Amino acid sequence: MCGIVAYVGSRSAQPILLDALNRLEYRGYDSAGLAILNGKGLEVRKKSGRILELAKACEAHPVQGNLGISHTRWATHGAATDQNAHPHLDSSGRLALVHNGVIENYLELKSQLSKTGHRFASETDTEILAHLIGEAFQASKEKGEARLIEAVRNAIARIHGTLGIAVIHADLPGLVVGARRGSPLVIGVGQGENFLASDIQALAPYTNRVVILQDQEIVSLHADRFDIIAPLGAKTNFKVEKIENGVTHSDKGSHPHYMLKEIFEQPSSILNAFRGRLDSDGATAKLGGLNLTSEQLRKIERICVLGCGTALHSGMVGKYLIESLAKIPVETQHASEFRYGDSPVSAHTLFLAVSQSGETADTLGALREAKRRGYTCLGICNNVASTIARESDGGVYMHAGPEIGVAATKSFTSQVTIFALLGLLLGRLRSLSASHGAELLEALTHLPHKIEETLKHSDKVAQVAQKYAATRSMLFLGRLANFPIALEGALKMKEITYIHAEGYPSAELKHGVIALIDKDTPTVLIATQDGVYEKNLGSLQEIKARGGPVIALAHEGDKKIMGLADALLEVPQTHRLLQPILNVIPLQLLSYHMAVALGRDVDKPRNLAKSVTVE
Ligand code: F6R
Repeated sequence: MCGIVAYVGSRSAQPILLDALNRLEYRGYDSAGLAILNGKGLEVRKKSGRILELAKACEAHPVQGNLGISHTRWATHGAATDQNAHPHLDSSGRLALVHNGVIENYLELKSQLSKTGHRFASETDTEILAHLIGEAFQASKEKGEARLIEAVRNAIARIHGTLGIAVIHADLPGLVVGARRGSPLVIGVGQGENFLASDIQALAPYTNRVVILQDQEIVSLHADRFDIIAPLGAKTNFKVEKIENGVTHSDKGSHPHYMLKEIFEQPSSILNAFRGRLDSDGATAKLGGLNLTSEQLRKIERICVLGCGTALHSGMVGKYLIESLAKIPVETQHASEFRYGDSPVSAHTLFLAVSQSGETADTLGALREAKRRGYTCLGICNNVASTIARESDGGVYMHAGPEIGVAATKSFTSQVTIFALLGLLLGRLRSLSASHGAELLEALTHLPHKIEETLKHSDKVAQVAQKYAATRSMLFLGRLANFPIALEGALKMKEITYIHAEGYPSAELKHGVIALIDKDTPTVLIATQDGVYEKNLGSLQEIKARGGPVIALAHEGDKKIMGLADALLEVPQTHRLLQPILNVIPLQLLSYHMAVALGRDVDKPRNLAKSVTVE
């Protein structure tokens, strides 16, 4: 979490830092701050709340200078106050630091520093690191930039945890030092100016030439040059990469929120997920980036999907797709659990790490653990050149375009589409017939249009949302591949409306959950016509018998359900394996419209951040 931007060049740093920081606000928005070297010393502005608050403070009291660091925070240690906002200073007040990550042993270090007279202005773990670097700077015998580099290296050697940092010192105008352990950092290479950021996206208007800092590396950044220093202290070679795709800045267009825009982008984001990947001659899919031969793909005996939140839910739908199409057993694991658990994994298992951002710390940690155990790991990511994409043995990009709204929407449907392609490819290498493969391909090509049809119901979904916006608790039920859709509907509802919501397999109702049913607890029941349709109708009756309102998600024109449910969310019919992709859309819209009705901050819900780069 948290976003970092640093600038050194000949332009005024303040507007560049504020602008670039705005592009990182999705990483956290509890507070923001910047520090600029103004020719005499350090000048700091920091404010709790959104970057807008910082911009107002900077407008009232602008800071002049061509070098600075900045930060947008997702609070881990200490509340979202001005004091806890980054940058943090050392004891001399001449060194400033911004940090993304978590320092696990900060209490122990704080107590050691306190004994030697250090006093702290915040409750953060980051301030401890500023003091440690400042102390090491004072103690260093080195001169010039080597002094700050050595201080950073010595200080971070005492830290347990993760960090992406940028440091400046008033005695060294013209220098920014960055370091990375666990949290991403990229160098943006400009002409007569250079940048450092936790995400390529921040730098999009300034440069598309980047160097991705590797773990444990330190960078010394000047306006006209930079050096990368390997963990043992020697300068190291690097490659400047040109980023062509995936770094465009996105605006809301005519939509009031990014989330709505992204929901409505799904016809094209789905198309981008399968464009160029359908092989109608072979009735299969082409996934060039897997880096696995057909022979290797045939040898896969099990698949384990790793992910968090929405990405994990897509993996749960992916399980149904791959098991149906390829008959390969698939398990899904919360990435955060897998990385610390003892769960045995059989030989010939393929791991799939699913992550929109490609930076989620838990998923990255799980991927590294799977690789450490010697397994092949593929990534399904949206962000090009993200850490998970780079550390995977191969993978599939979603090409969904930037997803800015904190609630994941289009990335989910792109992920499920990719699972369909993967299932098709693996299936056709096994027993899936050409005619069944061709049926799925055909249905995929019609999917963007079906999504357009689904989106036409948005106004009707808004009416349902108005009707139920006052509710305090909701249930979401679905069976088989629609169970993860129920989980996803409940997650969307919780995160942007703050209404309590639970997702369950419909039949679990009678094993306890039914006790929650009353006239004030609506249930969204996913009951599109499939092999368990009649069973779902049974659940509907059980809920109605207990006075619970039912919002049924059903196929357009389903008269049977119309007569039973209190409200209807309609979707067109598609191939049974692709139906979950359509079914999730009314649920995205329901939570969106309910959040709007409740006056919630849809794109930036409380306590959340788009990219969760801490454990
Ligand atoms: C929910 C949501 C989160 C993310 C999760 C994983 O709307 O956005 O649950 O899905 O934090 O993020 P990625 O996909 O970036 O790894």
